[in-house]
Amino acid sequence: MADMKEVLLEATREAGKIILHYFNGVFKIDHKEGINNLVTEVDKLAEDKIIQIVRANFPDHTIISEEVGELIKPSQYQWLIDPIDGTVNFAHGIPICCVSIGLMFGADLILGAVYNPMMNELFFAEKGKGATLNGEPIYVSKKAEFKTACLVTGFPYKWPDSREHPIKVFERIVLEGVPVRRLGSAAIDLCWVACGRFDGFWEYNLSAWDVAAGYLIVQEAGGRISDFEGARYNVFEKETLATNGLIHEEMLKVIQKGSS
Ligand code: IPD
Ligand code: CA
Ligand code: CA
Repeated sequence: MADMKEVLLEATREAGKIILHYFNGVFKIDHKEGINNLVTEVDKLAEDKIIQIVRANFPDHTIISEEVGELIKPSQYQWLIDPIDGTVNFAHGIPICCVSIGLMFGADLILGAVYNPMMNELFFAEKGKGATLNGEPIYVSKKAEFKTACLVTGFPYKWPDSREHPIKVFERIVLEGVPVRRLGSAAIDLCWVACGRFDGFWEYNLSAWDVAAGYLIVQEAGGRISDFEGARYNVFEKETLATNGLIHEEMLKVIQKGSS
């Protein structure tokens, strides 16, 4: 049987080539639900390529991919695919977007790759074997103080039915004077926590394909993932808090302040 790691990396790189080829070029853009929720023909080309590679090697595996949905097979293996994470950036020629592919076996994430071809940055993790950036080991930051941390967040296209409006948490953290960035690609946000550029990331309403690879990469780099209660992560849950571990409890407190 083909090696799952090699197949995952091949699919990631091939999709990355397609994204790089069309970056800043001419391509068709459509709107999904909501005026700024975009999908381009490049999302679909990259997705077709990934699915073709996975299917050719593992025809019996389940695939859950953003644009085509679920291609269910009765398998313990599930490929969670976001062909372009950061489509709005891609459509505007902003080089912060990536391919994100995670592989689960049962409830466990076992492999994950996130590739930004414009920056030539390939993040990868295998369960129990650490995380890498372009083959070199990466680790989360050692920042222990929330007040001096550098954070990143994102906002959904439509305001969700969350316990608190996401802008309120953002407001509380910004009013504390803590720098917060907004890159526009959840998978890259997670990887930049994993390699120590950011100390923490939170967002509400992400999908499994946005976070699957990134969660494993953060955890294998020594970070912590939870929901906003501090409970164990699950790629299908809607709340994401990813940190270096050291500022996690303080971030939970700030996020939860509005719900008391
Ligand atoms: C989006 C990005 C963005 C996040 C959105 C996602 P897409 O994914 O990850 O950072 O804020 O919630 O939907 O649409 O570019 O694949
Ligand atoms: Ca996405
Ligand atoms: Ca996408």
